[in-house]
Amino acid sequence: MSTRENLMAAFEGECKAHFRYLAFAVIAEREGHHEVARLFRAVAEAEAIHALAHFDILGEAGDTEQNLMSAIDGETYEFTQMYPAFIEQSENEANTRATISFRNASEVEKIHNNLYSKALENLGKNRKSEYHVCEICGNTVAGNAPDKCPVCGASIDKFKIFKD
Ligand SMILES: [Fe+2]
Ligand SMILES: [Fe+2]
Repeated sequence: MSTRENLMAAFEGECKAHFRYLAFAVIAEREGHHEVARLFRAVAEAEAIHALAHFDILGEAGDTEQNLMSAIDGETYEFTQMYPAFIEQSENEANTRATISFRNASEVEKIHNNLYSKALENLGKNRKSEYHVCEICGNTVAGNAPDKCPVCGASIDKFKIFKD
């Protein structure tokens, strides 16, 4: 394998480790092992730093206009092709939890696609906006948080705010 391929493999591995450790931290927390949860979260952060360093050397990212277009392509693929196929398969297997998880994600990818498209339209206009993310389904809302998540029904206190 070339170093380029190794960088890509290392990037993907570190991304997976990042999220696996965050998931492990939740379990450790639930079991009352707070010190282990903290360790998992700290190492997860370190793996994210490695992933970003590998990705930077890969040079796959463009300028913000190109990156918005690439993000729009990715989100579009997910909600038009990937998730519809995954939803169908999970329904055939009667795996309800997977179906709900895929449906939530698919619906939210559509919303991400819209948000990115608007950001592309308004690029350079420096429009200020804050975002709210539903911690249950990932729904991403520009401006004020809704009283109830329109995707999963979670209440307003489940929204995490992103602002300067
Ligand atoms: Fe998305
Ligand atoms: Fe939600």
